[in-house]
Amino acid sequence: MIEEAIARLKERENAVILAHYYVDGAVQALADFVGDSYYLAKVASRTDKDTIVFCGVRFMGESAKILNPSRRVLLPDAFADCPMAHMANRAQIAEMRAKIPDLAVVCYINSTAELKALSDVCVTSSNAIRIVSALPNRNILFIPDENLGAFVRSKVPDKTFYFSGGYCPVHAQLLAADIDSERAAHPDAPVLAHPECRADVLARADFIGSTAEILAFAQSDGAHAYILATEPGVLYELNARCPGKKFYPVTPICADMKRITPEGVLRCLERGEYLVEMSSDRMAEARRPLERMLELAQ
Ligand code: 13P
Ligand code: SF4
Repeated sequence: MIEEAIARLKERENAVILAHYYVDGAVQALADFVGDSYYLAKVASRTDKDTIVFCGVRFMGESAKILNPSRRVLLPDAFADCPMAHMANRAQIAEMRAKIPDLAVVCYINSTAELKALSDVCVTSSNAIRIVSALPNRNILFIPDENLGAFVRSKVPDKTFYFSGGYCPVHAQLLAADIDSERAAHPDAPVLAHPECRADVLARADFIGSTAEILAFAQSDGAHAYILATEPGVLYELNARCPGKKFYPVTPICADMKRITPEGVLRCLERGEYLVEMSSDRMAEARRPLERMLELAQ
Protein backbone atom coordinates (compact mmCIF):
# COMPACT_ATOMS: atom_id res chain seq x y z
CA MET A 1 0.00 0.00 0.00
CA ILE A 2 1.40 3.37 -1.03
CA GLU A 3 -0.01 5.03 2.14
CA GLU A 4 2.02 2.68 4.34
CA ALA A 5 5.20 3.16 2.31
CA ILE A 6 4.79 6.94 2.60
CA ALA A 7 4.16 6.70 6.35
CA ARG A 8 7.37 4.63 6.80
CA LEU A 9 9.45 7.08 4.77
CA LYS A 10 7.93 10.03 6.58
CA GLU A 11 9.10 8.51 9.85
CA ARG A 12 12.56 7.73 8.44
CA GLU A 13 13.02 11.28 7.13
CA ASN A 14 11.32 12.97 10.14
CA ALA A 15 9.08 14.69 7.58
CA VAL A 16 5.79 16.54 7.62
CA ILE A 17 3.47 16.58 4.59
CA LEU A 18 1.59 19.82 3.82
CA ALA A 19 -1.07 20.01 1.10
CA HIS A 20 -3.09 22.82 -0.45
CA TYR A 21 -6.85 22.35 -0.93
CA TYR A 22 -6.36 22.42 -4.73
CA VAL A 23 -4.30 19.19 -4.95
CA ASP A 24 -6.09 15.89 -5.61
CA GLY A 25 -8.13 14.42 -2.77
CA ALA A 26 -5.86 11.35 -2.78
CA VAL A 27 -2.92 13.62 -1.92
CA GLN A 28 -4.87 15.65 0.66
CA ALA A 29 -5.70 12.31 2.35
CA LEU A 30 -1.96 11.63 2.86
CA ALA A 31 -1.14 15.02 4.34
CA ASP A 32 -0.55 15.95 7.98
CA PHE A 33 -1.85 19.47 7.35
CA VAL A 34 -4.23 20.63 4.60
CA GLY A 35 -5.12 24.29 4.19
CA ASP A 36 -5.05 27.54 2.26
CA SER A 37 -1.86 29.42 1.47
CA TYR A 38 -1.88 31.48 4.68
CA TYR A 39 -2.46 28.52 6.99
CA LEU A 40 0.20 26.42 5.27
CA ALA A 41 2.76 29.26 5.43
CA LYS A 42 2.17 29.49 9.19
CA VAL A 43 2.47 25.72 9.67
CA ALA A 44 5.68 25.65 7.61
CA SER A 45 7.21 28.52 9.57
CA ARG A 46 6.66 26.68 12.88
CA THR A 47 7.38 23.04 12.16
CA ASP A 48 10.32 21.37 13.91
CA LYS A 49 10.40 18.43 11.47
CA ASP A 50 13.63 18.06 9.44
CA THR A 51 11.81 17.84 6.10
CA ILE A 52 8.73 19.59 4.72
CA VAL A 53 7.09 17.88 1.73
CA PHE A 54 5.01 20.62 0.11
CA CYS A 55 2.13 19.29 -2.00
CA GLY A 56 1.38 22.41 -3.99
CA VAL A 57 3.05 24.68 -6.51
CA ARG A 58 6.61 26.01 -6.37
CA PHE A 59 5.94 29.38 -4.72
CA MET A 60 4.44 27.52 -1.74
CA GLY A 61 7.57 25.41 -1.28
CA GLU A 62 9.74 28.53 -1.67
CA SER A 63 7.73 30.40 0.98
CA ALA A 64 8.12 27.44 3.36
CA LYS A 65 11.89 27.40 2.80
CA ILE A 66 12.20 31.18 3.21
CA LEU A 67 10.22 31.14 6.47
CA ASN A 68 12.00 28.10 7.91
CA PRO A 69 15.40 27.98 6.17
CA SER A 70 17.01 25.28 8.33
CA ARG A 71 14.45 22.70 7.11
CA ARG A 72 14.79 20.69 3.92
CA VAL A 73 11.83 21.50 1.66
CA LEU A 74 10.87 19.03 -1.08
CA LEU A 75 8.38 19.38 -3.94
CA PRO A 76 6.86 16.14 -5.30
CA ASP A 77 6.89 17.63 -8.83
CA ALA A 78 9.60 19.92 -10.17
CA PHE A 79 7.31 21.54 -12.76
CA ALA A 80 4.27 22.36 -10.62
CA ASP A 81 4.47 26.12 -10.94
CA CYS A 82 1.87 28.90 -10.76
CA PRO A 83 1.86 30.93 -13.99
CA MET A 84 0.60 34.00 -12.13
CA ALA A 85 3.65 33.93 -9.84
CA HIS A 86 5.68 35.38 -12.74
CA MET A 87 3.24 38.11 -13.84
CA ALA A 88 5.13 41.18 -12.63
CA ASN A 89 8.72 42.24 -13.07
CA ARG A 90 11.58 44.19 -11.53
CA ALA A 91 11.35 47.05 -14.09
CA GLN A 92 7.64 47.65 -13.40
CA ILE A 93 8.28 47.84 -9.67
CA ALA A 94 11.30 50.16 -10.04
CA GLU A 95 9.37 52.47 -12.37
CA MET A 96 6.43 52.73 -9.99
CA ARG A 97 8.67 53.28 -6.97
CA ALA A 98 10.40 56.15 -8.82
CA LYS A 99 7.09 57.70 -9.94
CA ILE A 100 4.77 57.35 -6.94
CA PRO A 101 5.73 58.72 -3.54
CA ASP A 102 4.61 56.83 -0.45
CA LEU A 103 4.21 53.59 -2.40
CA ALA A 104 3.87 50.21 -0.69
CA VAL A 105 4.54 47.22 -2.94
CA VAL A 106 2.09 44.55 -1.78
CA CYS A 107 2.90 41.11 -3.14
CA TYR A 108 0.41 38.27 -3.24
CA ILE A 109 2.13 35.15 -1.89
CA ASN A 110 1.45 33.57 -5.32
CA SER A 111 4.70 35.08 -6.62
CA THR A 112 8.33 34.18 -7.21
CA ALA A 113 10.89 34.72 -4.46
CA GLU A 114 12.41 37.45 -6.66
CA LEU A 115 9.14 39.43 -6.65
CA LYS A 116 8.75 38.97 -2.91
CA ALA A 117 12.29 40.24 -2.39
CA LEU A 118 11.36 43.47 -4.20
CA SER A 119 8.21 44.03 -2.12
CA ASP A 120 7.30 45.65 1.19
CA VAL A 121 4.82 43.08 2.40
CA CYS A 122 3.24 39.82 1.27
CA VAL A 123 -0.44 38.93 1.56
CA THR A 124 -2.65 35.93 0.91
CA SER A 125 -6.28 35.96 -0.16
CA SER A 126 -7.38 35.50 3.46
CA ASN A 127 -5.43 38.41 4.97
CA ALA A 128 -4.98 40.94 2.12
CA ILE A 129 -7.77 43.34 3.22
CA ARG A 130 -6.53 43.41 6.80
CA ILE A 131 -2.90 43.95 5.81
CA VAL A 132 -3.50 46.62 3.17
CA SER A 133 -5.77 48.47 5.65
CA ALA A 134 -3.04 48.33 8.31
CA LEU A 135 -0.31 49.79 6.07
CA PRO A 136 0.50 53.48 6.66
CA ASN A 137 0.92 54.07 2.88
CA ARG A 138 -1.89 55.56 0.79
CA ASN A 139 -0.52 54.27 -2.54
CA ILE A 140 -0.48 50.54 -3.16
CA LEU A 141 1.19 48.68 -6.03
CA PHE A 142 -0.58 45.31 -5.80
CA ILE A 143 1.28 42.51 -7.64
CA PRO A 144 0.76 40.15 -9.43
CA ASP A 145 -3.02 39.44 -9.18
CA GLU A 146 -5.11 42.35 -10.46
CA ASN A 147 -8.41 40.58 -9.70
CA LEU A 148 -7.55 40.04 -6.04
CA GLY A 149 -6.10 43.56 -5.94
CA ALA A 150 -9.31 45.09 -7.34
CA PHE A 151 -11.34 43.15 -4.77
CA VAL A 152 -9.13 44.52 -1.96
CA ARG A 153 -9.48 48.03 -3.44
CA SER A 154 -13.27 47.72 -3.22
CA LYS A 155 -12.90 47.04 0.53
CA VAL A 156 -10.21 49.70 1.19
CA PRO A 157 -11.57 52.65 -0.82
CA ASP A 158 -9.40 55.33 0.82
CA LYS A 159 -6.21 54.04 -0.87
CA THR A 160 -5.05 54.36 -4.46
CA PHE A 161 -4.16 51.11 -6.20
CA TYR A 162 -1.83 50.34 -9.11
CA PHE A 163 -1.49 46.92 -10.73
CA SER A 164 0.99 44.87 -12.73
CA GLY A 165 -1.73 43.24 -14.86
CA GLY A 166 -1.38 39.63 -13.68
CA TYR A 167 -4.18 37.13 -13.18
CA CYS A 168 -4.79 33.49 -12.26
CA PRO A 169 -5.35 31.71 -15.60
CA VAL A 170 -7.62 29.19 -13.86
CA HIS A 171 -9.99 31.54 -12.04
CA ALA A 172 -9.93 34.13 -14.85
CA GLN A 173 -11.31 31.54 -17.29
CA LEU A 174 -14.61 31.64 -15.47
CA LEU A 175 -16.97 34.19 -17.05
CA ALA A 176 -20.04 35.97 -15.70
CA ALA A 177 -22.13 34.13 -18.33
CA ASP A 178 -21.04 30.79 -16.79
CA ILE A 179 -22.35 31.93 -13.42
CA ASP A 180 -25.60 33.14 -15.00
CA SER A 181 -26.30 29.81 -16.69
CA GLU A 182 -25.43 27.83 -13.54
CA ARG A 183 -27.74 30.11 -11.52
CA ALA A 184 -30.54 29.49 -14.00
CA ALA A 185 -30.08 25.74 -13.43
CA HIS A 186 -29.82 26.06 -9.62
CA PRO A 187 -31.65 29.26 -8.65
CA ASP A 188 -31.52 28.62 -4.89
CA ALA A 189 -27.81 27.86 -4.72
CA PRO A 190 -25.62 30.70 -3.37
CA VAL A 191 -22.42 31.42 -5.35
CA LEU A 192 -19.17 30.98 -3.40
CA ALA A 193 -16.24 32.68 -5.18
CA HIS A 194 -12.51 33.06 -4.70
CA PRO A 195 -11.27 36.67 -5.07
CA GLU A 196 -8.95 35.59 -7.92
CA CYS A 197 -12.13 35.54 -10.09
CA ARG A 198 -12.95 38.42 -12.46
CA ALA A 199 -14.81 41.44 -11.04
CA ASP A 200 -18.04 40.65 -12.93
CA VAL A 201 -18.00 37.11 -11.53
CA LEU A 202 -17.40 38.47 -8.00
CA ALA A 203 -20.29 40.91 -8.51
CA ARG A 204 -22.57 37.86 -8.85
CA ALA A 205 -21.21 36.07 -5.76
CA ASP A 206 -23.04 35.66 -2.47
CA PHE A 207 -19.82 34.98 -0.60
CA ILE A 208 -16.21 35.87 -1.54
CA GLY A 209 -13.27 34.40 0.32
CA SER A 210 -10.08 32.35 0.31
CA THR A 211 -10.41 28.58 0.08
CA ALA A 212 -10.40 28.26 3.89
CA GLU A 213 -13.01 31.01 4.21
CA ILE A 214 -15.24 29.36 1.59
CA LEU A 215 -15.03 26.08 3.54
CA ALA A 216 -15.92 27.76 6.83
CA PHE A 217 -18.83 29.62 5.22
CA ALA A 218 -20.30 26.51 3.55
CA GLN A 219 -20.04 24.61 6.82
CA SER A 220 -21.95 27.19 8.87
CA ASP A 221 -24.43 28.44 6.22
CA GLY A 222 -27.97 27.07 6.00
CA ALA A 223 -28.32 26.45 2.24
CA HIS A 224 -28.33 22.91 0.83
CA ALA A 225 -26.60 23.56 -2.49
CA TYR A 226 -23.91 25.97 -3.73
CA ILE A 227 -22.27 27.07 -6.96
CA LEU A 228 -18.51 26.82 -6.41
CA ALA A 229 -16.37 29.41 -8.18
CA THR A 230 -12.94 28.20 -7.18
CA GLU A 231 -10.66 25.30 -8.08
CA PRO A 232 -12.63 22.04 -7.61
CA GLY A 233 -9.94 20.41 -5.43
CA VAL A 234 -11.76 22.13 -2.54
CA LEU A 235 -14.62 19.65 -3.08
CA TYR A 236 -12.67 16.96 -1.22
CA GLU A 237 -12.78 18.95 2.03
CA LEU A 238 -16.22 20.50 1.33
CA ASN A 239 -17.80 17.07 0.95
CA ALA A 240 -16.09 15.82 4.11
CA ARG A 241 -17.18 18.83 6.18
CA CYS A 242 -20.65 19.32 4.68
CA PRO A 243 -22.28 15.90 4.30
CA GLY A 244 -25.66 16.17 2.58
CA LYS A 245 -24.87 19.49 0.87
CA LYS A 246 -24.48 19.68 -2.90
CA PHE A 247 -21.77 21.68 -4.70
CA TYR A 248 -21.74 22.62 -8.39
CA PRO A 249 -18.18 23.50 -9.44
CA VAL A 250 -17.85 25.95 -12.34
CA THR A 251 -14.11 26.75 -12.31
CA PRO A 252 -11.69 24.58 -14.32
CA ILE A 253 -8.95 22.59 -12.59
CA CYS A 254 -5.47 23.98 -11.99
CA ALA A 255 -3.27 21.63 -14.03
CA ASP A 256 -0.19 22.62 -12.02
CA MET A 257 -1.76 21.63 -8.70
CA LYS A 258 -2.90 18.35 -10.26
CA ARG A 259 0.72 17.40 -11.08
CA ILE A 260 1.06 16.32 -7.44
CA THR A 261 0.26 12.62 -7.03
CA PRO A 262 0.68 10.04 -4.23
CA GLU A 263 3.40 8.39 -6.37
CA GLY A 264 5.20 11.74 -6.56
CA VAL A 265 5.04 12.13 -2.79
CA LEU A 266 6.49 8.64 -2.34
CA ARG A 267 9.32 9.27 -4.84
CA CYS A 268 10.08 12.62 -3.28
CA LEU A 269 10.56 11.08 0.18
CA GLU A 270 12.51 8.11 -1.21
CA ARG A 271 14.98 10.16 -3.26
CA GLY A 272 15.03 13.51 -1.45
CA GLU A 273 13.84 15.38 -4.54
CA TYR A 274 12.92 17.99 -5.68
CA LEU A 275 14.87 20.18 -3.33
CA VAL A 276 13.81 23.83 -2.99
CA GLU A 277 16.97 25.94 -3.07
CA MET A 278 17.64 29.67 -3.21
CA SER A 279 20.65 31.84 -2.41
CA SER A 280 20.83 33.00 1.22
CA ASP A 281 20.67 36.65 0.03
CA ARG A 282 17.48 36.02 -1.93
CA MET A 283 15.94 34.20 1.03
CA ALA A 284 16.86 37.00 3.45
CA GLU A 285 15.32 39.65 1.14
CA ALA A 286 12.14 37.64 0.59
CA ARG A 287 11.81 36.78 4.30
CA ARG A 288 11.18 40.42 5.34
CA PRO A 289 7.83 40.83 3.50
CA LEU A 290 6.69 37.32 4.45
CA GLU A 291 7.43 37.90 8.14
CA ARG A 292 5.76 41.31 7.97
CA MET A 293 2.67 39.53 6.61
CA LEU A 294 2.67 37.11 9.54
CA GLU A 295 2.98 40.04 12.00
CA LEU A 296 0.31 42.25 10.40
CA ALA A 297 -2.14 39.37 9.90
CA GLN A 298 -2.21 38.56 13.63
P1 13P B 1 -5.71 30.55 -1.15
O1 13P B 1 -4.97 29.38 -0.69
O2 13P B 1 -5.22 31.80 -0.45
O3 13P B 1 -7.19 30.43 -1.07
O4 13P B 1 -5.31 30.83 -2.69
C1 13P B 1 -5.74 30.08 -3.74
C2 13P B 1 -4.70 29.82 -4.74
O5 13P B 1 -4.81 30.16 -5.88
C3 13P B 1 -3.54 29.08 -4.37
O6 13P B 1 -2.79 28.89 -5.48
FE1 SF4 C 1 -1.75 29.71 -9.62
FE2 SF4 C 1 -4.32 29.92 -10.16
FE3 SF4 C 1 -3.21 27.49 -9.99
FE4 SF4 C 1 -3.56 29.00 -7.77
S1 SF4 C 1 -5.16 28.15 -9.08
S2 SF4 C 1 -1.72 27.85 -8.36
S3 SF4 C 1 -3.20 31.05 -8.60
S4 SF4 C 1 -2.73 29.07 -11.52
